[in-house]
Parts: sequence; structure tokens; C-alpha cells
Amino acid sequence: TQTTQIPGYTYGEVATSPVSEADLDLLKQTVLLSEEDVLYLQMAGRVLEDQTENILDVWYGFVGSHPYLAQYFGKNDQLNDAYLASVRKRFGQWIMDTCFRSYDQQWMNYQHEIGLRHLVKKNQTDGVDAVPIIHFRYLVTFIVPITATIKPFLARKGNSVGEVENMYNAWFKAITLTVALWCYPYVKEGTF
Ligand code: HEM
Repeated sequence: TQTTQIPGYTYGEVATSPVSEADLDLLKQTVLLSEEDVLYLQMAGRVLEDQTENILDVWYGFVGSHPYLAQYFGKNDQLNDAYLASVRKRFGQWIMDTCFRSYDQQWMNYQHEIGLRHLVKKNQTDGVDAVPIIHFRYLVTFIVPITATIKPFLARKGNSVGEVENMYNAWFKAITLTVALWCYPYVKEGTF
């Protein structure tokens, strides 16, 4: 996984997450994330590695075809193409990170940062003038398209039906865990 050449990608260089590793462990148990799932995530990473641009085309197509979502990438219904392009690079890296990184303190720290970037730190990383926050309701509901759309890509490299199913389930667990961590800055202090 390449890192440094992506503007604004600051994995390993962000503040410590307020969530403890003990709580992370309980969240992993809650989404039923097993050692086997971790192996299937790595398998998914190898399957998806050279398909990230195609995946991003699908995801950006989904956002682009829903004006109520697209508007978050701009202001006054004007899309900021530079902003879209800049975030897209970090999004591609995130797919690889989700598959290959170990879910440890450093990973949690960056998840907290991404949560902030959808809320109080939105627009800062790219220095853009766009709508100030992503609304909470879409952060959660986006789990469905981000999960559902990955399956055809997982099935594209000749893996067995069982392997595709296992990669898909591991991906769903990983995305749910990830988005739960991103919710931290959205919820009332003391309620996470
Ligand atoms: C940023 C994924 C929900 C719009 C990002 C990044 C990732 C990501 C990986 C870049 C993180 C980085 O800076 O390294 C996701 C996932 C979501 C989700 C997995 C839910 C499951 C949404 C929704 C919208 C949205 C619903 C609304 C269209 C944005 C925008 C940024 C961003 C505008 C740039 C934020 C900034 O200014 O730094 N997202 N996102 N995201 N996402 Fe999301």
C-alpha cells in the first residue's frame, strides 16, 4: 500500500482516538469479526487491488446520480471537481487499508480522523469551500451501497462462491465496525 504521495492522507500522523483498544475489541466481537474474517479481508484486498478505480467509478456514479448526496462535494449545487478528485485518491487508499491494515490503535486513530473529516473537519484537508458537514443519517445508511456494490468485484477473479461469500461477509463486518467508529464525533458526549 502506497501512502505518502496521497495529499491529505495522514495515516499514522493523527491524534489518538478517544476509543480504547478494549472497546475496539468489544466492537469486533459485536460485529462477529473473527480471525478467519481477517484472512478473508486480506483475500478481498488481493482481489480488489487492481479494481479500485472501477469500484470508485461505481461509488462516485451512485453519489453523482443522487443530487442530495452529490451536493456534499460542493456548495450551492455546484460540484467542486478538484475536491471530488482529491477525496477519491484517499478513498481508494481506504479500500486497501480496510483490507490490509491491522485494526489496532493506529487504525482506530485514523478512523476517528475520518469521522471528524465528515463532520467538524470537513473541507479542511483539501482547503475547499463546500457544505460544512455530512449528515449522520447518510453516514449510517451508506453502509448498504458500500457493501452491496462490492460483491460483483469480489466475484470477478475466479474465486469460489464460498470464498466470495466469506469475503463479502468480512467486508460487511469491517464497514459496519468502521462506520461505528466514525460516529463518535456525531453523538452526544458520553453516549458513544
Ligand atoms: C471522505 C468513505 C459516507 C462524502 C471520505 C473518505 C473516505 C470515505 C474513505 C476519505 C478519508 C480520508 O480523508 O482519508 C465513506 C464511507 C461512508 C461515507 C465508507 C459510509 C459508509 C459519506 C457520505 C457522503 C460522503 C454519505 C455524502 C455524499 C464525503 C466527503 C468527503 C469524504 C465530502 C471529504 C471530507 C473532507 O472534506 O475531508 N469518505 N464515506 N461520505 N466523504 Fe465519505
